[in-house]
Amino acid sequence: MNIVLLGAPGAGKGTQASMLCEMLNIPHISTGDIFRRHIKELTPIGKIAKSYIDRGELVPDSVTEEIVRLRLAEADCKNGYLLDGFPRTVAQAKALEGFSKVDVVIEIDVPHEKLMHRIIGRRVCGKCAESYHVDFIGEKRVCEKCGGDLIHRDDDKEDTVKERLFVYANKTAPLIDFYAERGILKKVNGDLAAKDVLSEISKALK
Ligand code: AP5
Ligand code: MG
Repeated sequence: MNIVLLGAPGAGKGTQASMLCEMLNIPHISTGDIFRRHIKELTPIGKIAKSYIDRGELVPDSVTEEIVRLRLAEADCKNGYLLDGFPRTVAQAKALEGFSKVDVVIEIDVPHEKLMHRIIGRRVCGKCAESYHVDFIGEKRVCEKCGGDLIHRDDDKEDTVKERLFVYANKTAPLIDFYAERGILKKVNGDLAAKDVLSEISKALK
């Protein structure tokens, strides 16, 4: 199955994607994680991406679409994939229709006022990108999955998060209607414990 996870920054896309992909045995493709890898490795794409990500803006469609097109052409996507954070504009969604067929789009819905708290308290693994929250891990700063160090993402500062939420409302939220019109949108309540969100998504996928 080809799945897209849609949701505001902090809605829990990465958290759910990690569990879902393990369950369904399909690759987790997060454009945010791909860009962060490029930034770490100081590649030309990383250089371009950093200038946008640091401001909370979107990386240009042309750069992002090409990365996803090439990634979906890889052999491990033949039996399905999960896209996390792509598409993020109507132009990206139209481009995706040109090179792959999405079966279902899951919109993870979380009240706006909860998103900032989730993001500001997030710590991510610098090695495998797993997300945690200080509310649940206390002082621990080591990844349970791979033993990597947990870090605070550079774009998780309050001002940048405000800009990311603004960009989501203006550029990404229109995708809700875009996919509803195509009859493939399923909305789930993301304001539940992570394991309960996972079971809501599992039900929606049946
Ligand atoms: P990206 O990395 O995709 O960031 P984002 O969309 O802003 O989403 P986040 O990763 O912040 O949140 P999430 O929904 O994954 O939440 P998480 O599971 O971590 O993109 C970063 C940047 O890259 C963009 O701003 C843009 O510049 C660029 N970019 C990426 N894709 C692009 C594209 N297609 N086009 C152009 N530019 C692009 O959870 C958040 C926190 O909440 C964690 O602490 C977690 O532990 C906690 N949490 C999760 N679920 C729950 C729950 N159920 N209850 C309580 N806490 C929870
Ligand atoms: Mg994420």
